[in-house]
Amino acid sequence: MYLSQRVRQLAPSPTLAIDAKAKQMAAQGIDVVNYGVGEPDFDTPQHIKDAGIKAIQSGFTKYTAAAGIPDLRKAIADKLKRENGLDYSPDQIVVSVGGKGGLYNAFLAVCDVGDEVILQAPYWVSYPEIVKLAGGVPVIIETTEKDGFKMTPEVIKAKLTPRTRIINLNSPSNPTGAVYSRKELEAIAEIAVKHDLYVVSDEIYEKMVYDGEEHVSIASFGPEIKKLTVLCNGASKAYAMTGWRLGYVAAEPEITKAITGLQGHQTTNVPSMVQKAGVAAFSTDSDASIKTMVAEFDKRRKFMTKRCNDMPGWYCPEPKGAFYCFPNVSGLFGKTIRGRKVENADTLAEIILAEAHVALVSGSGFGAPNNVRLSYATSMERIETGMDRIEALLKEAK
Ligand SMILES: Cc1ncc(COP(=O)(O)O)c(C=O)c1O
Repeated sequence: MYLSQRVRQLAPSPTLAIDAKAKQMAAQGIDVVNYGVGEPDFDTPQHIKDAGIKAIQSGFTKYTAAAGIPDLRKAIADKLKRENGLDYSPDQIVVSVGGKGGLYNAFLAVCDVGDEVILQAPYWVSYPEIVKLAGGVPVIIETTEKDGFKMTPEVIKAKLTPRTRIINLNSPSNPTGAVYSRKELEAIAEIAVKHDLYVVSDEIYEKMVYDGEEHVSIASFGPEIKKLTVLCNGASKAYAMTGWRLGYVAAEPEITKAITGLQGHQTTNVPSMVQKAGVAAFSTDSDASIKTMVAEFDKRRKFMTKRCNDMPGWYCPEPKGAFYCFPNVSGLFGKTIRGRKVENADTLAEIILAEAHVALVSGSGFGAPNNVRLSYATSMERIETGMDRIEALLKEAK
């Protein structure tokens, strides 16, 4: 069957694939511990649910403006001021279908065919695909445990060409948990301003930072870099709202206007009742639930990191943000487990799922073939069970 080049070039999402396999095994009655998917195991806070329900019951169920309802755009602008020290007017905010929808539209708006986009590996699986769909060319900068999974100004400068248009940032990072410091971001901002490059800054894990690390938005370093920043964020992670599909982009008015135009021909608006729930989400009423969730993630992070480092052949620096451990498992490559050779991270993930019934994701889809990703957004009890199973299996490696 004929399919467009556009869709044929797409790599399948390895995170969704492993989740589907784990769910299929669970449907067959197998007790699978799932570390595969990146969503909080917490419920959406009640005040947010109530706002959505109230919207439906009061008949707020029709089309809205493509960029979002005024009270939500204002609530997001207020949040950016209160929490990030950023001054955006509501017309500089576009509400999008999930963080992903915002990122996709951001790239469509500022990336032209053939433009180069600096992207760090390990990367979140969707970035290269979104860049390619927008016609851009991903220019990958490899980072490892040794550099704390962060790009230095020197390596960025070495990759610049006359076609470079965008630096993509994701701090805190999925999958590595790396958090860029203020100083590191300042150095990147300097490069962007000097070379007139956009920074697409995905800040969706901003609330999940640990050990006294702080999340800083690169847009906060003054008017020059703010003009070049396309800030992408959303409600999925901080407010446990993955299924609601609520994200946003904050940027210069020309950019948000362009994105609004795109959405007008595409998804139109985020569902009206979800937007009303969003007004509640981005208010201070959510602070207590975020605090509780992040404190719990922190406990699990420490526990899971320790257990990863106790595994034979694994090495896992402590992640400082997000909710993933990202151990290097290359110490097992070439060994055999229950008659199967561990060729790479893909085969290791397959063996662990088949033999220990624990779903984790190979790093290959994240541009990190020596690593696997484990999400600790699952209960402490399931973390203990899964880690016990993996440890018992890996002890058999010969
Ligand atoms: C780094 C990163 N950005 C964006 C998203 C998209 O979030 P949403 O579910 O709101 O589309 C994710 C989701 O996993 C993510 O990990």
